[in-house]
Amino acid sequence: MAGPRTSETQRRGRRPAVVTVLDMGSTKTVCLIARMVPSDTGRYLSARTHQAEIVGIGHTRSLGMKSGVVVDLDAAERSIRHAVEAAERMAGVTVDSMIVNLSAGRPKSTICSASLTLKDKPVSQREIEQVLRAAVARAARVDRHVVHLLPIDHMLDGERGIVDPRGMIGSELTLNMHLLSADVAPVRNLELAINRAHLSIETLVATPYASGLATLVDDELELGCACIDMGGGTTSIAIFSEHRFVHTETLPLGGHHVTMDVARGLNCRLEDAERLKVMQGSVIATSVDDRDIIQVPSMDEDRHEGGHQIPRSLLNRIVAARVEETLEMLRERINASGCSSVVGKRVVLTGGAAQLGGLPDMARRILGRNVRIGRPLGVRGLPAAAKGPAFAAAVGLMVYPQVAADDHSSERFRGTASVKRTGTEGPLGRMTQWIKESF
Ligand SMILES: Nc1ncnc2c1ncn2[C@@H]1O[C@H](COP(=O)(O)OP(=O)(O)OP(=O)(O)O)[C@@H](O)[C@H]1O
Ligand SMILES: [Mg+2]
Repeated sequence: MAGPRTSETQRRGRRPAVVTVLDMGSTKTVCLIARMVPSDTGRYLSARTHQAEIVGIGHTRSLGMKSGVVVDLDAAERSIRHAVEAAERMAGVTVDSMIVNLSAGRPKSTICSASLTLKDKPVSQREIEQVLRAAVARAARVDRHVVHLLPIDHMLDGERGIVDPRGMIGSELTLNMHLLSADVAPVRNLELAINRAHLSIETLVATPYASGLATLVDDELELGCACIDMGGGTTSIAIFSEHRFVHTETLPLGGHHVTMDVARGLNCRLEDAERLKVMQGSVIATSVDDRDIIQVPSMDEDRHEGGHQIPRSLLNRIVAARVEETLEMLRERINASGCSSVVGKRVVLTGGAAQLGGLPDMARRILGRNVRIGRPLGVRGLPAAAKGPAFAAAVGLMVYPQVAADDHSSERFRGTASVKRTGTEGPLGRMTQWIKESF
């Protein structure tokens, strides 16, 4: 995804563009409209060609969504309309299509490879294109929605990690691609909710990939690292190595499950449980907290009456148990994927639940790596409330077109049954011309 640092001539050749993105989360729906201004963003983010200047933002509580999946079309449509209309009013523009994140449909990463026998001469551009076409054709046979199809590396006679095989000799050239797929029905339902609001999807981007694009710096991308997005209903991870997005895992668990545990464990309403978790909760339960007493409001109608007191350590134990379980499941998934060594020494935490007290320490212990909180980088005009880790995915959706040239997922759907089923070109076939022309 990253090329060499952009030259001044290249920079001048680029045009400003307006990009609209929609982060449909389990707890919040965010629409951002940004003017993308050609720039060299600086020494940390060399893959970026444009800087985003936010001109419109709409933000509302998500309705009809559960763990990233649309469960009520009418309600989801209302949230989308609210968020998009607010952003449109602020920006003074009318939007008809957007780049949207995807957490639904049990996203799954696999390696899609294709090989080519070489004649007795050095590898040329022709062979590179031929092996790419073969890999894309192979991906076309997958019966799930292909969200991303990104090159990982070339192999020459079984030797991995060849970045550019042009001019090299060997007898067999192989291309390995990261194929990220999702179940078709949840993708279609997401598209339906958006179409009902008279909008369409430009392209879909896996949520943790977007979060990584917004928060990771060049050294992390080069050395290998993982971005974990801990949202309200999902926790997902994107693994990056040598500037490539190579693997993802998604769990249908997030901050909302912590809130439900607190509500059940302390016998209180969900809204009180949420407040207690955010204001007083931590994933670190210390003995000092045994003496720190907090008030839990009662479930009754008259909430000023009754209620009960508990030691803060009880709240923290409930919060810690769920988060620990989630991180351990993620660790098992990373180990099972064979990508553990690729992750390197660094994990970046994003998503609203990343703000839980003590989370970096717990993640450091369970994942055995350095951990930092990731905030969206290289974007101007975000209000203070949107500068935190919960907005990483939304900002990453604006970065995606700048690195999308490598993504061959759209080729998968050109002229296939999926396109016909949708009745639109939809997300299922299109990285529209403006993206290709502007970046
Ligand atoms: N300051 C905070 N401390 C702890 N938790 C927080 C804080 N702020 C928000 N959260 C939690 O973050 C979660 C929401 O995160 P986020 O906004 O990233 O979710 P989402 O994008 O809507 O959902 P998802 O990505 O899972 O579909 C909620 O569970 C909320 O309780
Ligand atoms: Mg999210």
